[in-house]
Amino acid sequence: MANITFSNPAYKDKTVYATAGSHTETILKIAKQNQIPISFSCGDGECATCLIKVTSLSDKTRMGGPLTEKEKTVLVESGKLTKADIEKMAVDDLPSPWRLACQMIVRDEDILVEY
Ligand code: FES
Repeated sequence: MANITFSNPAYKDKTVYATAGSHTETILKIAKQNQIPISFSCGDGECATCLIKVTSLSDKTRMGGPLTEKEKTVLVESGKLTKADIEKMAVDDLPSPWRLACQMIVRDEDILVEY
């Protein structure tokens, strides 16, 4: 099981449990299923409305699957990451703190999602 804690200054933090191995579950899908009001528009990795900040709550796990090509494009366009940041993360095998909720696939790890 993965514990996902959703945090936003306007709401009480909410922790939900995602089934491990459900590699099709995006953060946005899980948020919707749990009535967590993450903003979204396109739902397809193109508008950056669903921008989230992700932090690992355990030190040895990775934060979700790798950045999708759509996330790379949108995160650079929105100024959250530079192309150099993305290259460095790829070389050093590091996760991105900035993700798109509609693109990030949940893995079996505990994370904090700020939205
Ligand atoms: S809803 Fe548009 S990028 Fe996620």
